[in-house]
Amino acid sequence: MKTEEPGTTSQPVDTRDSVTFGPNRSRDFSHEPMCLSGKGVTRIFHAGKVTTTAVDHVDFEFHKGELISIVGESGSGKTTLSKMLLGLLEPSEGEIYFNGVPRDISTSARKREYWKGIQAIFQDPFSSYNIFHKIDSVLLDCIHMRGGRNLSKEEKTRLMTQACSFVNLKFAELTNKYPFELSGGQMQRLMIARIFLLKPEILLADEPTSMIDACSRATILDMLLNLRNETGMTIIFITHDIGLAYYISDSIYIMEHGRFVESGSAEEVILRPKAAYTRRLISDVPKIHEPWDLSTVG
Ligand SMILES: Nc1ncnc2c1ncn2[C@@H]1O[C@H](COP(=O)(O)OP(=O)(O)OP(=O)(O)O)[C@@H](O)[C@H]1O
Ligand SMILES: [Mg+2]
Repeated sequence: MKTEEPGTTSQPVDTRDSVTFGPNRSRDFSHEPMCLSGKGVTRIFHAGKVTTTAVDHVDFEFHKGELISIVGESGSGKTTLSKMLLGLLEPSEGEIYFNGVPRDISTSARKREYWKGIQAIFQDPFSSYNIFHKIDSVLLDCIHMRGGRNLSKEEKTRLMTQACSFVNLKFAELTNKYPFELSGGQMQRLMIARIFLLKPEILLADEPTSMIDACSRATILDMLLNLRNETGMTIIFITHDIGLAYYISDSIYIMEHGRFVESGSAEEVILRPKAAYTRRLISDVPKIHEPWDLSTVG
């Protein structure tokens, strides 16, 4: 676990002009230490007489610093898997390993410790905040979680200002507001500011750009990639968009009906797909092999 104080190693980054993603940029992380892995991870839901196997015996290996996309259509089990990775939902079967050892989140203290290592950005940012907490207390909580409770008021304000400027928000204009007073796009940026302060080892992003327009979407993705480059954070990106996954990921896992039908490096999966399902997803994106035009990210 990293021990540095929040924000002390990072400078604010102007992300507006930097476009850090493009095709065929994926790197091989197979020699990096494993941070999160799973064997036979399964989740079955029972509702009356109906049984749904939402996630069906999946195996995965995510390495330190890697950007992994999990791609699948609606209902394929992506969010159910994310919730298990986060420890919000128990697997019905299988084992999840964190930093090489079986994950133990059997007590609330162990769960809190685990959440210092893994944090999430959800599909619906409105569900992520306590609506009775003002924005400065949302950000202060992050500083406190990272052990910064005893920092001076000025230092805390400096860290919060830095985190907001990382996502092009102005802290001074937000201090007295509640999260519900922000736009959807501002809220998603605030979520990234939280991650900037928390600096978890692993960030799980479940369709984080779903609520915003194409232009802000590209900016948010760019911010996430900058965050990864700056902190060495592992990012697990959950999406239905295989084109986007290709452009941002090192590795891709393709999910269909709760199973991983294919996985590998982004190039391998997109340029040499083996599963019929992957080929179908790719054929829905006619321009996947052409250069990325940010104005059409949508
Ligand atoms: N709490 C639950 N109880 C019963 N069934 C559930 C529950 N949560 C999810 N499911 C079912 O599990 C399957 C997978 O759902 P999940 O939300 O994981 O899909 P998803 O890939 O995230 O879809 P989307 O792209 O629409 O977000 C679906 O058939 C869904 O109806
Ligand atoms: Mg989902």
